[in-house]
Amino acid sequence: MSSIANQIAVVTGSGRGIGRAIALKFAAEGADVVVVSRTVENSEKVASEIRALGRKAWAFAVDVSDSASVNTAADKILADCGRVDILVNNAGVTRDGLLMRMSDADWDTVLNTNLKGAFHVTRAFSRALLKQRAGRIINVASVIGLIGNAGQCNYAASKAGLIGFTMSCAREFASRGITVNAIAPGFIETDMTSELKPELRESVLKTIPMGQFGQAEDIAGAALFLAGASGRYVTGQVISVDGGMVM
Ligand SMILES: NC(=O)c1ccc[n+]([C@@H]2O[C@H](COP(=O)([O-])OP(=O)(O)OC[C@H]3O[C@@H](n4cnc5c(N)ncnc54)[C@H](O)[C@@H]3O)[C@@H](O)[C@H]2O)c1
Repeated sequence: MSSIANQIAVVTGSGRGIGRAIALKFAAEGADVVVVSRTVENSEKVASEIRALGRKAWAFAVDVSDSASVNTAADKILADCGRVDILVNNAGVTRDGLLMRMSDADWDTVLNTNLKGAFHVTRAFSRALLKQRAGRIINVASVIGLIGNAGQCNYAASKAGLIGFTMSCAREFASRGITVNAIAPGFIETDMTSELKPELRESVLKTIPMGQFGQAEDIAGAALFLAGASGRYVTGQVISVDGGMVM
């Protein structure tokens, strides 16, 4: 039996892309999953896929940048599910542009979703996790948070911030049996990267030693390692899953 069998996982931004792959991977390993995304349609669609795998699923539409909505949803999730064992902060957005022309709105949207959203969600579940004296928190950062990227100062700042947040939470929660780690994906084939212009795609590919973009399932595999028994003694780490892009 898998080490996450019968555990309850909350995965934000799991209506599609990397979050969906993580939710389905956890369900395939026997976990029950709370699917959180911005729209109820996407959450319900993935929840149905999870139920088809024979596991329980709950669908929630929550904007993680809205602290009050997150608190209300977390209370409902804990009431409906009884507890949460694994929390994956995966919801994220991009609003790319050169710094000189970047609007306050584009800066705020990215920081409020990618960084403050993870803070809202982690805080909302922290009391329950600390009381349980067990749990896994996995934050989906990015290699861009490690190396930066022209045209992504907002995104890079949010992901670098998320890495600092991860290490601080790891130190705060370690004595209570809760691990907190980050995954730094490289370029992964999802809706987020589907709009890259062909010439940019080509130039990115040249920076990846493995010569290909990753798949959402590659990130789900790393998340399963961190969530399962094999990840027991790993905390405060950033695991890059990037075809060798950052080394
Ligand atoms: N695709 C890549 O190459 C790549 C690389 C590095 C990191 N990442 C990170 O992985 C995560 C998932 O990205 P993806 O490629 O699957 O993107 P995606 O756009 O396909 O999915 C993002 C998900 O986040 C949800 N979301 C966005 N804002 C939200 C909000 N305010 N509240 C709740 N949910 C919200 C969306 O509804 C969607 O389900 C993001 O954090 C992203 O920054 C992606």
